[in-house]
Amino acid sequence: MRAITTAWGLSREPFAQDIPVKDLFPLPGLASFIDRFDYAVQNGLATVITGEVGSGKSTSLRAAAARFHPSQHRVISLVATSGSLMELLRQICIALGDLPMSNSIAKMVTLVRSLLVDIASKKQVPVLLIDEAHLLRLDVFAQLHTIAQADFDSRTLIPIVLSGQINLIDKLLFHTSKPFASRIVGRSHMEALQRDDMANYLAHHVSIAGGTKPLFGADAVTAIHQSSGGLLRRAGHLAKGALLAAAAEGCPIATAEHVRIASTEIM
Ligand SMILES: Nc1ncnc2c1ncn2[C@@H]1O[C@H](COP(=O)(O)OP(=O)(O)OP(=O)(O)O)[C@@H](O)[C@H]1O
Ligand SMILES: [Mg+2]
Repeated sequence: MRAITTAWGLSREPFAQDIPVKDLFPLPGLASFIDRFDYAVQNGLATVITGEVGSGKSTSLRAAAARFHPSQHRVISLVATSGSLMELLRQICIALGDLPMSNSIAKMVTLVRSLLVDIASKKQVPVLLIDEAHLLRLDVFAQLHTIAQADFDSRTLIPIVLSGQINLIDKLLFHTSKPFASRIVGRSHMEALQRDDMANYLAHHVSIAGGTKPLFGADAVTAIHQSSGGLLRRAGHLAKGALLAAAAEGCPIATAEHVRIASTEIM
């Protein structure tokens, strides 16, 4: 992909996945998600962020968590699996640097709780982030609250933030998930971008890659918006593909035709 940076005089790869948090585009839903995230963490509750594939959920989670200082918060960041509760408990233990030895759920829940109490005793707030949470099984949701509660529900050991596709909500609405779902206080949904926001989003990515002039014509922006449905990952792939196609033709700006060519290369 060096062809893009060279052809367009950029200092770094545009539309990268690993953009530093300070350089993120202020997506319309990002600030309100961060408010809900903070509220849930401050109150020891749970919150949920949903969105279509590639709408910016994981990046928003990263942005929210990056504001915490490690001396005050211990962020446990997991990617969900379709495994059992035992699997999740093991993931938490490993993330906390403890090698889980037991095959008993009861012992593992006790171990996780004692690890969380240890963190609290160091005046840190543990925060559990579970990305791809739509993959969790219903039987895991049915028991998830047991990790977080202590002393007959008189205090919360850890706030929980779930991120996932929209079917996560269906799983949370299932009757066996109610004990956990009742602890959710905020629901955020990452909406697809509107046409004008998409224009700003593309220009933002060009600018943080060191671009100083517009690289996409208005017709290209509309084509990227329509073909991506306003979703960020797809928009990024189309934008990069269009820049490559335009560079191959020696065009000074990417057009809708270049976006069309790019769209034949992605799924
Ligand atoms: N605030 C932002 N500013 C700039 N780029 C962003 C922002 N949020 C997301 N992106 C870009 O959009 C792409 C998709 O974002 P992300 O991976 O967070 O989506 P997702 O909703 O978690 O996707 P999936 O459903 O596949 O897990 C990322 O590669 C990232 O570069
Ligand atoms: Mg993601």
